[in-house]
Amino acid sequence: MALHIENLEVEDIKEKLDEINQEFEGKSPQEILKWVFNTFGEKVVLASSLGLEDQFLTHMSVDIFPKVHVFFLDTGRLNQETYDVLAESIEKYKIKYDIYFPKAEEVERFQGDFGPNAFYQSLELRHRCCQIRKIEPLQRALKNYSAWITGLRRQQSVTRINTRIIEWDEINNLIKINPLIDCCVLDVTDYLSNNDVPYNKLFDQGYTSIGCAPCTRPIKLGEDRRAGRWWWETPEKRECGLHQKH
Ligand code: ADX
Ligand code: SF4
Repeated sequence: MALHIENLEVEDIKEKLDEINQEFEGKSPQEILKWVFNTFGEKVVLASSLGLEDQFLTHMSVDIFPKVHVFFLDTGRLNQETYDVLAESIEKYKIKYDIYFPKAEEVERFQGDFGPNAFYQSLELRHRCCQIRKIEPLQRALKNYSAWITGLRRQQSVTRINTRIIEWDEINNLIKINPLIDCCVLDVTDYLSNNDVPYNKLFDQGYTSIGCAPCTRPIKLGEDRRAGRWWWETPEKRECGLHQKH
């Protein structure tokens, strides 16, 4: 079905978010992404952690818009399996990922002051580590864009239930699009296996959400999919700040 929101100027989109979200209701990720690339072209960037949802979006985006821009925040604390799927994806999709590292002098100071495992000591230090290794690099990654695409899904956690398909990102000052927000995990895994999409092999070992190695573990039976992230904290705290709203 055709969307009735074609040919909108980027400046008008912020004013029409409710209308656009209504138009998107019941639409597939593919229909949403087509609108996104049609509207923003090279002024939109896909944020990929190489997770299952991001691999879904990468595969579909390359198909719709081969010039898609993709960035990856390399925190410096990732698993080898994450680098393996990055290498595989570069090979398969022939895209050049924009890779962002944290600022060396900030990591040196933080690690020098608090040691290599400061995140386990307190929530404050964990947030400082995420700020240095993820949030500051994210701000650089988004600098020249009008919009970004993420792999957020509402069912992932209590922290994401109010997220909409298209939003204004108050903190980073640009449009944010979450094409998979209403998808369930089976929608994602079916798409990956039907299309032979490369995925992180840690998902075969009981991991269901993957971030930095020291802050991620496999989940136990009955736990929610993000329970292995910062598992020593309570569920409503399990965000790193990438998706903070204000
Ligand atoms: S996180 O905020 O707790 O790390 P999660 O791992 O669930 O989030 O990922 C949610 C979305 O945030 C991903 O689908 C992706 O769009 C973006 N994201 C998370 N980590 C990264 C990363 N290292 N590089 C780029 N984008 C990321
Ligand atoms: Fe640091 Fe852990 Fe946050 Fe990674 S997830 S940036 S290691 S606190």
